[in-house]
Amino acid sequence: MATNAQVSEYLTQNEERFVEELKEFLRIPTVSADPECKPHLQRGAEFVHRQLANLGCTAEIVPTAGHPIVYGEWLKSPGAPTVLVYGHYDVQPADPLDLWTTPPFEPTLRHGCLYARGATDDKGQMFTHIKSAEAWLRTIGKLPVNLKYVIEGEEEVGSRNLEDFLNARRDRLQADVAVVSDTSQYGPNQPAITYGLRGIVAVEISLTGPSKDLHSGVFGGAVANPATGIARLIASLHDDQGRVRIPGFYDDVKPLTPSERQLFSELHFDEGAFKAELGITEVAGEEGFSTLERRWARPTCEVNGLFSGYTGAGPKTIVPSKATVKITCRLVPDQNPEKLTEALHQYLKSQCPHSLKFEFTSYHGCPGFVFDPNSPYIEAAKSAIQEAWAVDQVRLIREGGSIPVVQTFKDVLGLDTLLLGWGQNTDNLHSPDEHFSVADFHRGIRASANLWQKLAEMQNQPDSSVHNIC
Ligand code: BES
Ligand code: ZN
Repeated sequence: MATNAQVSEYLTQNEERFVEELKEFLRIPTVSADPECKPHLQRGAEFVHRQLANLGCTAEIVPTAGHPIVYGEWLKSPGAPTVLVYGHYDVQPADPLDLWTTPPFEPTLRHGCLYARGATDDKGQMFTHIKSAEAWLRTIGKLPVNLKYVIEGEEEVGSRNLEDFLNARRDRLQADVAVVSDTSQYGPNQPAITYGLRGIVAVEISLTGPSKDLHSGVFGGAVANPATGIARLIASLHDDQGRVRIPGFYDDVKPLTPSERQLFSELHFDEGAFKAELGITEVAGEEGFSTLERRWARPTCEVNGLFSGYTGAGPKTIVPSKATVKITCRLVPDQNPEKLTEALHQYLKSQCPHSLKFEFTSYHGCPGFVFDPNSPYIEAAKSAIQEAWAVDQVRLIREGGSIPVVQTFKDVLGLDTLLLGWGQNTDNLHSPDEHFSVADFHRGIRASANLWQKLAEMQNQPDSSVHNIC
C-alpha cells in the first residue's frame, strides 16, 4: 500500500521547515570527545527532548556518567508492533577547521546539500525518524506502530554508558525490532539496507624517552628517539602483503563464503570512480581481496593520529621527549575486542625498544556482526524505501564502519536492527565539509513514514509473524 495520502501531503508541505529545524540542531556543537563541549551536549539533548515532547511522546533526558541519553516513547497503538529507534546527537570533532568551506557549526545550503558537522552522521539521518512520526501524528492523529526512541550522546566515543542504560531498562525497552539510520546508501540514488558492520578496538600508545625535548646536536645519537621508536612500532603492524602481523589477529576470522563473494561482486563496484573520488592513484590493502571485501569483511589495523616533536613552521633541532600514536582495528564477526586489545598491547610492547617507556591506553571496543538478510523486516523496509526513492531495487550490503549499540541490542534486548542508511559514503562523514543531500533527507523521512505502515501491515499478514532475524 502506498504512503497514506495525508501523511505524504504533510511531508511535502513541511519540507522547508524540516530543513530549518535540522539547521537549528546542527548549530549546536555536540562534539562528544571534547570536554569543553559538555554544555553543548546538554543543549543537544534538550533539542531532541523538545522534539520528542512536541510529538506527544513521553520524553525524558536521562543523565549518565558521560553525556545524557534522551528517551521518548509513544505507545498508543496497542497490539501493533513496537519499534525501537536509535540515533546519536553527538558528532565527531570538526578539525581541521581551515579545510571547511563554511564553518562546521553554521549549516549552509550549497548544491542541494546541507553542509555542517553532523549533517549526515547522525543528526540529519536520525531526525528523519522524528519528522516521519510527526507527519503521522499531525495528520492521522496516531501512528501505525508504537515507537521508543533512544538517542544518545556518546556514539562517537564508543557508547560507553549505553549498555548500563539498556540493562537498567531492559523491560521498558522491549520491542520487536530496532531501526537505525546511521549508515550509507550504496551510491547516489542506490538505497541500501546494511546487514553487517565491522567492530572496532581503539587504543593509544605513547613512548617516552628523555624527560624533556633535547638539543639533537648535543644529545642526539646517545639517547633513543621516541619518534623513531613509534615509527618502528607502526611499521611492524603490517607485512608486505598488507596482512596484520599481530599474533592471533586472524585466528577467529571466518573465510568469506563463495556466495558472499559472489554477492559482493554482483554489486559491480566502480573502482575507477572510487579512486577518483578519493584522489588516489591505486587502491591498497590485504592481498587477495577485492576493495569491497577489504572494506566490509576483512579486519584491519589503521593509524588514526601520530604526533611527536616540533610540528610548527621551519626547522627545529630536537630529540623529542615523547611520541604518541592513535590506532584502531576494525573487526569482523567472531573476533573478540577484549582479546584483540590484549594481543595488540602485548605485540606492540614486544616491539618497543627497552630504552623507551611504553604506555598503552585502551579506549573502547565492540564486535562486528552480520544479520541474516532474509527476514520479513528487511522485506518491509525494502518496500518502504522503494516507494520513497521511486526505484525498483534496494541493495543489500555490508559496511565497514561500526555502531557499537547494534550488538548490544541483540545481547541485552534480543533485538535485531534494521540499518537503513540515507546518507552517502561521500558525504564527508568525520571529514571537513560534511554534508547531507536535502533530497535524501526528505526521501529518508518518507521512507521512515512508509516503514511504520509496512511494519504494521507485516503483523496483519498470515504466516509472517514478527520474529527475530537470527
Ligand atoms: N555512522 C557511523 C558508522 C558508519 C558510517 C557505518 C558509515 C557505516 C557507514 C558512526 O557514527 C561512526 O562513525 N561510528 C564510529 C564508532 C566508533 C567511534 C566506536 C566509527 O565507525 O568510527
Ligand atoms: Zn560517525
